[in-house]
Amino acid sequence: MTKTHIPPVIVLKELRKRFGVGDAEHYALDGVDLSIEQGEFIAIMGPSGCGKTTLLNILGLLDRDIEGDYELNGREIGSLSQRRQARIRSDQIGFVFQSFNLISRLTVIDNVALPLIYKGIPKLKRIKMASKILHDFHLGEREFYMPNQLSGGQMQRVAIARALVNEPSIILADEPTGNLDSHASHIIMEELSDLHKKGNTIIMVTHNPNLTTYASRVITMLDGRIDTDTFQLPVVKPVTEKKPLGKTTKRTKSKKSKGTK
Ligand SMILES: Nc1ncnc2c1ncn2[C@@H]1O[C@H](COP(=O)(O)OP(=O)(O)O)[C@@H](O)[C@H]1O
Ligand SMILES: [Mg+2]
Repeated sequence: MTKTHIPPVIVLKELRKRFGVGDAEHYALDGVDLSIEQGEFIAIMGPSGCGKTTLLNILGLLDRDIEGDYELNGREIGSLSQRRQARIRSDQIGFVFQSFNLISRLTVIDNVALPLIYKGIPKLKRIKMASKILHDFHLGEREFYMPNQLSGGQMQRVAIARALVNEPSIILADEPTGNLDSHASHIIMEELSDLHKKGNTIIMVTHNPNLTTYASRVITMLDGRIDTDTFQLPVVKPVTEKKPLGKTTKRTKSKKSKGTK
């Protein structure tokens, strides 16, 4: 009967976030209670301005000016120094943004290796680690491309590789498919779905209700609070539907050349 109890990865109690002062004061988060277990894949939905990004930034320790409690892996975040929080962020949290946020003057491989600099890993090892993860993402052939030579879907896959290079336990994604077409969106979702199957905790904000089917739990927010919270069985796509990046690009090219003949 005894079952090892793993504490939740994230516990929020009466979390509030206030912006502005005086007449302009308002609460972007207005009493959020939430408990997230290791290995959940959460999709967060809700109208623009309801506090999704604010919540993700707080979870990712990008914003420490909060009211209420935030426990990450059993530790109360508020009691930790800024330096300690930065350390936890770089060790345990991977961020993916809607606008990819790649550094345009760095090659793909240097972008992916970047988070490792802050961990003091020597250059050669950084490049090896980045190269390995890019190969895992079928992006090996693009290592020395510049970001502007990639499609949106490819850029986001590089951004996910960069978020994962530190092997974080939590992946936070703020509308990761917001700038992508439907095909590229599903490729990104399958990538996240694979990470979920490997045991990672994923918290993703999305506007697209179709994409919530990949998640194990769907939370909707309204006016800075949680409105609905639903557990579900995520869809599992057959492996054969997966299209590795290199092949997709090649096929598009060969189609075009056929058409011009
Ligand atoms: N830096 C900021 N300063 C002032 N208000 C902000 C700031 N960031 C967000 N807000 C406000 O907080 C609310 C929630 O914003 P946000 O979390 O970005 O919503 P969502 O991501 O759901 O669209 C909005 O009313 C927004 O205007
Ligand atoms: Mg937002």
